Parts: sequence; structure tokens; C-alpha cells
Amino acid sequence: MVSWLRYAASPQSPGGSKLQTELTKTLGIELPIFAFSHCRDVVAAVTKAGGMGSLGAAWMTPEELEMSIEWIEERVDGRPFSVDLVFPGTGGEGVEKTPDEYRKLIPKEHLSFVKRLLDDAGIADISEADRDAYLAEYAEKMAMTNKKSREQLEVVLSKKSVNLVVGALGVTPEWVVKEAHAKGVQVGALVGNGRHAAKQRSVGVDVLVAQGTEAGGSVGNIASMVLWPQVVEAAQGIPVLAAGGITRGSHILAALALGCQGVWMGSLWLGTAESDLSLEMREKLFAAASEDARLSKAMTGKQGRMLYTKYVDAWHRPDAPKPLDWPMQSIMNGYPFKRAERGRNLDYWTYSVGQAVGDMNEHTTVKSEIERMLNEYVEALEKLQGVTSY
Ligand SMILES: Cc1cc2nc3c(=O)[nH]c(=O)nc-3n(C[C@H](O)[C@H](O)[C@H](O)COP(=O)(O)O)c2cc1C
Repeated sequence: MVSWLRYAASPQSPGGSKLQTELTKTLGIELPIFAFSHCRDVVAAVTKAGGMGSLGAAWMTPEELEMSIEWIEERVDGRPFSVDLVFPGTGGEGVEKTPDEYRKLIPKEHLSFVKRLLDDAGIADISEADRDAYLAEYAEKMAMTNKKSREQLEVVLSKKSVNLVVGALGVTPEWVVKEAHAKGVQVGALVGNGRHAAKQRSVGVDVLVAQGTEAGGSVGNIASMVLWPQVVEAAQGIPVLAAGGITRGSHILAALALGCQGVWMGSLWLGTAESDLSLEMREKLFAAASEDARLSKAMTGKQGRMLYTKYVDAWHRPDAPKPLDWPMQSIMNGYPFKRAERGRNLDYWTYSVGQAVGDMNEHTTVKSEIERMLNEYVEALEKLQGVTSY
């Protein structure tokens, strides 16, 4: 294993730190490593290590979000961190429905299909009352209404520790940019092509996350190597973070070489001790190859990349119903997910993960992953200097 000392012993940049970019300076962080995670432990650990964690909070109630932010604040020694939300209204369909209205839109056909599927696999069913309770719970979590995102943003902007709020889908609404800027908070957005970048720039977004299809596949089909420099060009000076498939220090070097000001990673943290993923699902990810992370609408109704299990495969069979529109498919999935979880049969569930899964093979920690990547970064830089005459 490469020694942590390698990065520690490498020379400082003229700016006084080893890996500073304009963006890390603006945000007041040490490392250009950004970590998306639904798990507050990961967000705190990355932030504490000098990067910036971004808490995936779209599913949280405003109260849960407030508690999580305060929990992180207590652990990061005053360092800033970020929150990632979904803002409906510009990218959302049926945006003003209540959770209950969404739940009622789930056809019986879909529930019967998943019931049959899990019955045939010998997974014990749950009572109808439990099923309905899970569907109601998922409807509350997954229905991204304008009201909910306004309340979430209000919580985020009331906290001094959060200096970047990121929108996961669609063009960021102008009210979000205006309110965040009024509190001195920067706004980021995920983009999947140069047109998205230009639109986000026109509404005043400060940071773009260029997410290649290797990742979730939720914002576009362009691969990282092609996408990153295209977004950098379209951004016209707005800082760009590279996302999609990053697991190594050499990836960080490549992202910086392609004009990005940092990296935004999601999959890698799923294998760390700080992740709240079950041990069983983690083991499944460690055993998977990059080819096993495939695009499907099975989970949310929107295209996304996930572990290709028997459950996902079933949605691609000719007898399967068409996956429902977002968020109904996510709500409907509350039933098979809880059933497969209780039956401890993860072949009939799945998890969002990018092609990076092929590089995730063992239990790690956030700290060990960051140290590894920093050392690999220096090693890659040294190798590069050895192969060019400049
Ligand atoms: C389990 C999982 C869930 C994700 N959920 C969201 C989300 O809710 N909002 C969002 O902006 N991005 C989400 N992403 C995408 C990440 O923000 C990030 O762009 C992506 O993970 C980067 O690619 P990588 O996974 O190859 O590192 C998710 C990624 C993973 C792995």
C-alpha cells in the first residue's frame, strides 16, 4: 500500500496548500474532494478530513434535515459542508400532488406484479396493513413537493455551517438561487451536458457538477471523459466538479487536467465503515464488477444506474408492466424493498451505484480512502512528470 507520507511529504502549491483550486479557496476547504452521501457519518468524516461532504437530503422531512445538520455540525470542528436537495417545479411532473395522491396513482397491476415475483422467489409476504404502512411512509419520503423543498431550503439557509446547496435534478429555480445568495450560500447543480450547463449558468448557479453516465446516469448519457471538458467550456468560468466513475488519485489528476476544480464522488463511500448500507448489500457491491452497474427505470421510474439483480432484471422482462413515472415507482418499491429486506433476500432488491463499483472490493473507511487517493494523486503526478519532457 502506498504510504500516506507520500502526500504529506509532497511540496505545497504556491497558494500554501497542496491541492487547492479557486473553488476550495472560495468555499474555505482544504481538499477538492466532494462527497455526496445520504449518510451523515460519511458527510461528517469527509468534511473533517478536509474535503466537503454533501448530505443527500431530498427524502428527509425538514425536521430530520435539521437534526442531521446539527449532528454533523457537532463533529466537523466548524468546517463548512453542503446539502443536496431536489427542487421540483422546473424538472418535476405533477409537482403539486400530495403524498397520498401520489400513492393512490399506483396501479394494482404493479403491486400484483411485484407480489407475484417475490412469491415465486419464496420470500414471505407481509400483511396488507404493513404493506400499506410502508407505501404511506415511502409516499411521504419520495413525494418532492414545492412546499417540502421550500421548507428544506429554509432549514438549510438557517444554518451557518452550510455554504453550498446543490440541486440534484433539473434547472435550479430562480427563487432558490436568490434566497441562497441572500444568505451568502453558493448554489450548485448536477448537469449532464453543455446545454444543461448553459441553462444553470443563466439562472445564476455558482458551481456545476458534471456527472458522467458512469455514475447514476440520472442526468445524461455522456461519459465523463467527454462530458467534463464540454461542461467546463459551456460553464464559461463557473467552477466545475467532475463526477462519475471517480475512485482513484489518478482520476482526480485527470479531472483537474480536464479543467475541473475538484471531484464529486458518490459510489465509493458506500463501501466505507461510515456508510449506513447493510453489511449484506455492501458485500454484494464488493463482489460486483463495473458491468453489473446498469441503467434501469426499476427503482425510481427515472433512468438510473444500479446493481443489476434478479429484481431489476424482472422489470426488463416482456411480461413486466412499464415502470411508473417518478415518484410513483419509488413509492411502490417501498413494498418489495421492505419484503426483501425482511426476507434477507437481496437478489430481490437493488441499490443505486455507478460503474465505480468494480473498484470497490473491500471494507474501508472514509479516512483510508482519502489518504489512498491523495497518495495515488502524487504518485500519478510524479509518473506524469517522468513521461513528459515538460
Ligand atoms: C446511492 C446513490 C444515491 C444517489 N442519490 C443522489 C441524490 O439523491 N441526489 C444527487 O444529486 N445525486 C445523487 N447521486 C449521485 C451523486 O451525487 C454523484 O453525482 C455520483 O454518485 C457520482 O458518481 P460516482 O458514483 O461514480 O462517484 C447518488 C449516487 C449514489 C451512489
